[in-house]
Amino acid sequence: MARLRIAVLPGDGIGREVMEAAFLPLERLGLDAEYLWGDIGWEFWKKEGSALPQRTIDLLHSTEVCLFGAITSKTADEALQELAPSLREKGFKYISPIVQLRQLFDLYVNLRPCKAFPGNPLNYREGIDLVIFRENTEGLYAGVEFHPLPSEVRRILEIHHPAMKRFSFASDGEIAVSLRLMTKRGCHRIVKKAFEYAKQFGRKRVTLVEKANVLRETGGLMIREAQEVAQAYPEIIFDVVNVDALAMWLVKTPEQYDVLVAENLFGDILSDLAAQLIGGLGFSASGNIGDHYAIFEPTHGSAPKHAGMGKVNPLAMINAMVLMLDWLGELDQSKTLEKAVRQVIYEGKARTYDMGGSASTTEMARAIAKKIA
Ligand code: IPM
Ligand code: MG
Repeated sequence: MARLRIAVLPGDGIGREVMEAAFLPLERLGLDAEYLWGDIGWEFWKKEGSALPQRTIDLLHSTEVCLFGAITSKTADEALQELAPSLREKGFKYISPIVQLRQLFDLYVNLRPCKAFPGNPLNYREGIDLVIFRENTEGLYAGVEFHPLPSEVRRILEIHHPAMKRFSFASDGEIAVSLRLMTKRGCHRIVKKAFEYAKQFGRKRVTLVEKANVLRETGGLMIREAQEVAQAYPEIIFDVVNVDALAMWLVKTPEQYDVLVAENLFGDILSDLAAQLIGGLGFSASGNIGDHYAIFEPTHGSAPKHAGMGKVNPLAMINAMVLMLDWLGELDQSKTLEKAVRQVIYEGKARTYDMGGSASTTEMARAIAKKIA
């Protein structure tokens, strides 16, 4: 029996093609692992009313770690339209499966490193080497949303919030609410992980990204927790920056940043921005990490308009495998794979369309595989 059991959820859109391609270099590493492919994604939503069937959750529970491709997420209205007619009246609700998985397995860290690849024609600037710690289970992703606003909820809000008076012109059906729900534990543990990482890898600075001048309660909680955590790491510089200002600074002087920590939605937005600084979504990978389980994925989505053409860059998926190997403690293999990626980019012979080349997804992955002895 293999030493490791790894779940593989390719998903849909370009998820399947990048996953299949990324297996070319992965298999060369000779990891003592068994791969278990599972069902997830849009086609299961349409047929079964769930993009994340229970059998897939059970599969993940029987493994050590999971590789995830990408999944199409559509709005609530579009999702309902595409559901099989026999399922339509049954009250099924589409919830992004990756968001569900993060919450189900309590994968509270979303780790997104962005380090420039020398020789990448898409390089924004050399010297960028930052890591984003995105809180992955709370905030605006908590899933507490209303539309229409139930009148009991409205009454309570009116009692406690003078600000609600301004909305008296709107009926319950004309109001939608998505709650930015943050907890002390949630804030504390994500900041703690960011500092622990900084300490382990000799990073000098941790920057908390918030917006506490406007989001006073949630932002305030996050800042207080972060200040408390920071006290235990006097050797690491700690600062707090507003998210709008940080977006500007990241474009202006990205090499100044080291470890960034942010709540869920801010981290989501900033990580796409940061991905572009190192060549775009074709390069950037994420680890969804909890205390007992982790799921590794490319930062990009399912990009339906590119699906089936075999042209997208598989490097983000391959870089996700590097992160997975790190997390598993397979450090020799992770170094070998990362080195192969960096070598191929540096040499510049194999380049996918986003890099101005004509290599296919498979050709790019094969070039990486060939660098692995
Ligand atoms: C990401 C993606 C997801 C998110 C989507 C696909 C639900 O944008 O991983 O950054 O919003 O978290
Ligand atoms: Mg995103």
